[in-house]
Amino acid sequence: MLKGEKVILRAREREDLKRLHELEQNVELVLQGDGNWQPEPFAALEKNFEKHLADEEKSWFVIEVAGVVIGGIGLHHSNRLDSCSEFGIGIYDPEYVGKGYGSDAIRVLLRWAFRIQNYRRIWLTTAGDNPRAIAAYEKCGFVHEGRLREHIFSDGEYVDLVQMGMLRTEWEARQG
Ligand SMILES: CC(C)(COP(=O)(O)OP(=O)(O)OC[C@H]1O[C@@H](n2cnc3c(N)ncnc32)[C@H](O)[C@@H]1OP(=O)(O)O)[C@@H](O)C(=O)NCCC(=O)NCCS
Repeated sequence: MLKGEKVILRAREREDLKRLHELEQNVELVLQGDGNWQPEPFAALEKNFEKHLADEEKSWFVIEVAGVVIGGIGLHHSNRLDSCSEFGIGIYDPEYVGKGYGSDAIRVLLRWAFRIQNYRRIWLTTAGDNPRAIAAYEKCGFVHEGRLREHIFSDGEYVDLVQMGMLRTEWEARQG
Protein backbone atom coordinates (compact mmCIF):
# COMPACT_ATOMS: atom_id res chain seq x y z
CA MET A 1 0.00 0.00 0.00
CA LEU A 2 1.03 3.61 -0.52
CA LYS A 3 0.77 6.09 2.33
CA GLY A 4 0.10 9.79 2.10
CA GLU A 5 -0.29 12.32 4.89
CA LYS A 6 -4.02 11.63 5.17
CA VAL A 7 -4.86 8.70 2.90
CA ILE A 8 -3.79 5.19 2.05
CA LEU A 9 -3.91 3.93 -1.53
CA ARG A 10 -4.25 0.17 -1.85
CA ALA A 11 -5.53 -2.49 -4.22
CA ARG A 12 -9.27 -2.86 -4.64
CA GLU A 13 -10.43 -6.06 -2.95
CA ARG A 14 -13.59 -8.09 -3.45
CA GLU A 15 -14.67 -7.06 0.08
CA ASP A 16 -14.63 -3.40 -1.02
CA LEU A 17 -17.29 -3.88 -3.70
CA LYS A 18 -20.28 -3.37 -1.42
CA ARG A 19 -18.89 -0.04 -0.17
CA LEU A 20 -17.94 1.03 -3.72
CA HIS A 21 -21.46 0.23 -4.90
CA GLU A 22 -22.84 2.31 -2.02
CA LEU A 23 -20.56 5.22 -3.00
CA GLU A 24 -21.83 5.05 -6.59
CA GLN A 25 -25.29 5.99 -5.32
CA ASN A 26 -24.11 9.58 -4.65
CA VAL A 27 -25.37 10.68 -8.03
CA GLU A 28 -24.31 14.32 -7.74
CA LEU A 29 -20.65 13.52 -7.04
CA VAL A 30 -20.54 10.79 -9.70
CA LEU A 31 -21.97 13.25 -12.22
CA GLN A 32 -19.28 15.80 -11.33
CA GLY A 33 -16.64 13.16 -11.90
CA ASP A 34 -17.93 11.22 -14.89
CA GLY A 35 -20.53 13.51 -16.46
CA ASN A 36 -22.93 10.57 -16.46
CA TRP A 37 -24.71 8.26 -14.07
CA GLN A 38 -26.48 4.99 -14.73
CA PRO A 39 -27.88 2.43 -12.30
CA GLU A 40 -25.21 -0.26 -12.07
CA PRO A 41 -26.31 -3.61 -10.63
CA PHE A 42 -23.99 -4.98 -7.95
CA ALA A 43 -23.44 -8.05 -10.13
CA ALA A 44 -22.02 -5.81 -12.88
CA LEU A 45 -19.51 -4.39 -10.41
CA GLU A 46 -18.51 -7.94 -9.44
CA LYS A 47 -18.15 -8.94 -13.11
CA ASN A 48 -16.01 -5.89 -13.81
CA PHE A 49 -13.84 -6.72 -10.79
CA GLU A 50 -13.33 -10.29 -12.07
CA LYS A 51 -12.53 -9.04 -15.57
CA HIS A 52 -9.79 -6.70 -14.34
CA LEU A 53 -8.09 -9.36 -12.20
CA ALA A 54 -6.36 -10.55 -15.36
CA ASP A 55 -5.01 -7.11 -16.33
CA GLU A 56 -1.27 -7.08 -16.74
CA GLU A 57 -1.00 -3.48 -15.55
CA LYS A 58 -2.44 -3.02 -12.08
CA SER A 59 -3.05 0.68 -11.87
CA TRP A 60 -6.25 1.31 -9.92
CA PHE A 61 -6.42 1.94 -6.15
CA VAL A 62 -9.06 2.52 -3.54
CA ILE A 63 -8.58 5.62 -1.38
CA GLU A 64 -8.89 4.83 2.30
CA VAL A 65 -9.08 7.21 5.27
CA ALA A 66 -8.83 5.68 8.76
CA GLY A 67 -10.20 2.37 7.49
CA VAL A 68 -13.02 3.91 5.43
CA VAL A 69 -13.02 3.59 1.62
CA ILE A 70 -13.97 7.00 0.19
CA GLY A 71 -13.33 6.49 -3.52
CA GLY A 72 -10.83 5.43 -6.14
CA ILE A 73 -7.83 6.77 -8.04
CA GLY A 74 -5.64 5.40 -10.77
CA LEU A 75 -4.19 5.48 -14.24
CA HIS A 76 -5.76 4.45 -17.51
CA HIS A 77 -5.12 4.83 -21.23
CA SER A 78 -1.46 4.22 -20.47
CA ASN A 79 0.94 4.35 -23.38
CA ARG A 80 4.31 2.79 -22.63
CA LEU A 81 5.89 3.88 -25.93
CA ASP A 82 5.18 7.55 -25.24
CA SER A 83 5.51 7.01 -21.47
CA CYS A 84 2.26 8.89 -20.86
CA SER A 85 -0.77 7.96 -18.81
CA GLU A 86 -4.12 9.51 -18.00
CA PHE A 87 -5.09 9.85 -14.39
CA GLY A 88 -8.58 9.72 -12.85
CA ILE A 89 -10.00 10.15 -9.36
CA GLY A 90 -13.40 10.04 -7.67
CA ILE A 91 -14.24 10.66 -4.01
CA TYR A 92 -17.89 9.81 -3.80
CA ASP A 93 -18.69 10.31 -0.11
CA PRO A 94 -19.92 13.88 0.51
CA GLU A 95 -18.46 13.76 4.05
CA TYR A 96 -14.98 13.52 2.59
CA VAL A 97 -14.87 16.05 -0.27
CA GLY A 98 -13.11 19.38 0.07
CA LYS A 99 -10.99 18.25 3.01
CA GLY A 100 -7.65 17.73 1.32
CA TYR A 101 -7.99 13.96 0.85
CA GLY A 102 -8.12 14.27 -2.94
CA SER A 103 -4.96 16.35 -3.28
CA ASP A 104 -3.13 14.06 -0.84
CA ALA A 105 -4.18 11.01 -2.91
CA ILE A 106 -3.09 12.74 -6.13
CA ARG A 107 0.36 13.52 -4.71
CA VAL A 108 0.79 9.88 -3.67
CA LEU A 109 -0.33 8.64 -7.08
CA LEU A 110 2.03 11.04 -8.91
CA ARG A 111 5.02 9.81 -6.91
CA TRP A 112 4.09 6.22 -7.80
CA ALA A 113 3.51 7.07 -11.46
CA PHE A 114 6.78 8.96 -11.94
CA ARG A 115 9.18 7.12 -9.64
CA ILE A 116 7.88 3.55 -9.56
CA GLN A 117 6.09 3.19 -12.89
CA ASN A 118 8.54 5.40 -14.79
CA TYR A 119 5.96 7.52 -16.60
CA ARG A 120 7.24 10.74 -18.12
CA ARG A 121 3.95 12.57 -18.39
CA ILE A 122 0.59 12.34 -16.61
CA TRP A 123 -2.47 14.06 -18.01
CA LEU A 124 -6.17 14.35 -17.25
CA THR A 125 -9.38 15.85 -18.48
CA THR A 126 -12.13 17.35 -16.39
CA ALA A 127 -15.32 19.29 -16.92
CA GLY A 128 -14.83 23.05 -17.14
CA ASP A 129 -17.61 23.49 -14.57
CA ASN A 130 -15.81 21.46 -11.89
CA PRO A 131 -13.87 24.22 -10.06
CA ARG A 132 -13.06 22.04 -7.05
CA ALA A 133 -11.34 19.44 -9.23
CA ILE A 134 -9.48 22.10 -11.23
CA ALA A 135 -8.32 23.81 -8.00
CA ALA A 136 -7.12 20.47 -6.58
CA TYR A 137 -5.19 19.66 -9.78
CA GLU A 138 -3.60 23.13 -9.91
CA LYS A 139 -2.62 22.78 -6.26
CA CYS A 140 -0.82 19.52 -7.11
CA GLY A 141 1.08 21.19 -9.97
CA PHE A 142 -0.92 20.29 -13.08
CA VAL A 143 -0.91 22.98 -15.75
CA HIS A 144 -3.70 23.86 -18.17
CA GLU A 145 -2.99 22.52 -21.64
CA GLY A 146 -6.19 23.04 -23.55
CA ARG A 147 -9.92 23.40 -23.62
CA LEU A 148 -12.44 21.72 -25.91
CA ARG A 149 -15.43 24.02 -26.02
CA GLU A 150 -18.87 22.56 -25.21
CA HIS A 151 -17.36 19.10 -25.66
CA ILE A 152 -19.35 17.15 -23.06
CA PHE A 153 -23.00 16.88 -22.13
CA SER A 154 -23.36 16.93 -18.36
CA ASP A 155 -26.51 17.31 -16.28
CA GLY A 156 -28.52 19.07 -18.94
CA GLU A 157 -25.81 21.29 -20.42
CA TYR A 158 -22.92 21.22 -22.84
CA VAL A 159 -19.77 22.16 -20.96
CA ASP A 160 -16.12 22.62 -21.88
CA LEU A 161 -13.60 19.83 -21.41
CA VAL A 162 -10.40 21.05 -19.75
CA GLN A 163 -7.14 19.19 -20.34
CA MET A 164 -4.29 19.46 -17.84
CA GLY A 165 -0.93 17.74 -17.57
CA MET A 166 2.33 17.40 -15.73
CA LEU A 167 5.79 16.35 -16.91
CA ARG A 168 8.09 14.38 -14.64
CA THR A 169 10.62 17.23 -14.82
CA GLU A 170 7.97 19.62 -13.50
CA TRP A 171 7.07 17.18 -10.72
CA GLU A 172 10.72 16.75 -9.76
CA ALA A 173 11.23 20.51 -9.62
CA ARG A 174 8.41 20.73 -7.06
CA GLN A 175 9.89 18.10 -4.71
CA GLY A 176 12.29 20.51 -2.99
C1 LIG B 1 -12.17 16.48 -7.39
C2 LIG B 1 -11.78 15.81 -6.09
C3 LIG B 1 -10.88 14.62 -6.38
C4 LIG B 1 -10.93 16.81 -5.26
O1 LIG B 1 -10.58 16.22 -4.04
P1 LIG B 1 -10.95 17.00 -2.69
O2 LIG B 1 -10.39 16.22 -1.56
O3 LIG B 1 -12.39 17.30 -2.66
O4 LIG B 1 -10.14 18.36 -2.92
P2 LIG B 1 -9.14 19.12 -1.94
O5 LIG B 1 -9.84 19.40 -0.65
O6 LIG B 1 -7.85 18.40 -1.89
O7 LIG B 1 -8.90 20.46 -2.77
C5 LIG B 1 -9.99 21.17 -3.29
C6 LIG B 1 -9.61 22.60 -3.51
O8 LIG B 1 -10.66 23.19 -4.28
C7 LIG B 1 -11.06 24.39 -3.68
N1 LIG B 1 -12.44 24.58 -4.06
C8 LIG B 1 -13.52 23.93 -3.60
N2 LIG B 1 -14.63 24.41 -4.21
C9 LIG B 1 -14.23 25.37 -5.06
C10 LIG B 1 -14.91 26.24 -5.97
N3 LIG B 1 -16.22 26.19 -6.10
N4 LIG B 1 -14.15 27.11 -6.69
C11 LIG B 1 -12.81 27.15 -6.56
N5 LIG B 1 -12.11 26.35 -5.70
C12 LIG B 1 -12.81 25.47 -4.97
C13 LIG B 1 -10.82 24.17 -2.21
O9 LIG B 1 -10.73 25.40 -1.53
C14 LIG B 1 -9.50 23.40 -2.23
O10 LIG B 1 -8.39 24.24 -2.37
P3 LIG B 1 -7.53 24.73 -1.07
O11 LIG B 1 -7.08 23.52 -0.36
O12 LIG B 1 -6.40 25.52 -1.68
O13 LIG B 1 -8.46 25.56 -0.24
C15 LIG B 1 -13.03 15.37 -5.26
O14 LIG B 1 -13.73 16.51 -4.80
C16 LIG B 1 -13.97 14.47 -6.04
O15 LIG B 1 -13.64 13.33 -6.30
N6 LIG B 1 -15.15 15.00 -6.40
C17 LIG B 1 -16.21 14.24 -7.04
C18 LIG B 1 -15.80 13.60 -8.35
C19 LIG B 1 -14.96 14.51 -9.23
O16 LIG B 1 -15.25 15.67 -9.42
N7 LIG B 1 -13.88 13.92 -9.78
C20 LIG B 1 -12.97 14.60 -10.66
C21 LIG B 1 -13.12 14.09 -12.03
S1 LIG B 1 -12.04 14.88 -13.18
